Amino acid sequence: MVLRVFRWDPGTGERVQEYRVTAREGMTVLDALVEIQRGSDPTLAFRYACRVGMCGSCAMVIDGRERWACRTLLARLPRRTVSVRPLYHFPLIRDLVVDLEPFRRRMLATAATFEPAEGPAAFAAVGRDTAERRQVAAAIECIGCGMCLSACTMVAHDERFPGPAALNRAFTLQLDSRDGAHADRATRLRSEDALVRCHAQASCTAVCPMEISPTDSILSLRRRAILALF
Ligand code: SF4
Ligand code: FES
Repeated sequence: MVLRVFRWDPGTGERVQEYRVTAREGMTVLDALVEIQRGSDPTLAFRYACRVGMCGSCAMVIDGRERWACRTLLARLPRRTVSVRPLYHFPLIRDLVVDLEPFRRRMLATAATFEPAEGPAAFAAVGRDTAERRQVAAAIECIGCGMCLSACTMVAHDERFPGPAALNRAFTLQLDSRDGAHADRATRLRSEDALVRCHAQASCTAVCPMEISPTDSILSLRRRAILALF
């Protein structure tokens, strides 16, 4: 197989470099990149940690779609020539490694961080079988991989749009009885660059490796914002 890999270093132009790999049974795109780095090109930069689909740090765009490299089997890809490039909408650091700072900035701008309310202890457990927990059970599984931001066309268009992950996180917090920032967050969510900006194309939902639907979270927040008017 041939991997057509995006290359970039500060001070050089973008280019694509081709590498030949022999795809063994069960070999993933990450395995292939590691083999290239160890065998033929130690300058190739990419990021990974767990190698088993838990941390999200190997997120990249493979054959035009956001995927985690450690869970993408070469044999499952339809073409024998596979394109590999870094996530979109993040600054490049080098080759396939992006700077996730915009992810953090968008979270902070949306107040998508936990603010303990007065009263119940911040670490108080919310029971698994409670309605409060069931409503957010899927949404709290976000691993912060950034794939949904890469896939979102509105993130590309509007620098101030919080993006799917921050809005999904905001959804979990707005339904968390231990959080004390509901009113401030609701104001931010109603701003002209937040909830109303989403076109509900569900590109985020299509690529989320945790099978979260940020689209559903956004639509739920919208319903809550509308109901709060009455
Ligand atoms: S919502 Fe899904 S795609 Fe987006 S950061 Fe979280 S885990 Fe990744
Ligand atoms: S290396 Fe952790 S998800 Fe791929």
